[in-house]
Amino acid sequence: MERTLSIIKPDAVANNNIGAIINIFEQAGLAVVAAKMVHLSQMQAEDFYAIHKARPFFGDLVRFMISGPVLVMALEGEDAVARNRELMGATNPKDAAPGTIRSLFAKTIDENAIHGSDSKENAANEIEFFFNNIELCVRTR
Ligand code: CMP
Repeated sequence: MERTLSIIKPDAVANNNIGAIINIFEQAGLAVVAAKMVHLSQMQAEDFYAIHKARPFFGDLVRFMISGPVLVMALEGEDAVARNRELMGATNPKDAAPGTIRSLFAKTIDENAIHGSDSKENAANEIEFFFNNIELCVRTR
């Protein structure tokens, strides 16, 4: 069993796509083990995306991520990191395979509906960024 972090971004939240996106995860065998809606502050968004600080799109990325609330989740399942990335599709929705979350719900690379951890190491760090141990539920049934 593996865990990964998923963020339903402000565009998908605004379009009322939360349920449809979670349905895709659940149908694919990924279980929600923690979830909360948050409206990130500028400092939180800058911290979370610190790895992209030097990239030209950093300012736009932070502005977008604080433009409205997001739904943050920890997902659990077999190969959760890789499976989540398959379900999301390519970063640029124009390159995303049909049926993937970004092909269904995203319009541009800047507003691309969803974020998912890109490695097991980042997944652990990103989950810890948003959730403490009490908030992470063990699926007892
Ligand atoms: P995400 O997986 O959340 O990680 C960083 C985000 O930066 C990415 O999704 C995109 O929404 C955004 N972004 C904007 N331009 C680019 C780009 N050229 N390459 C990668 N990510 C980009």
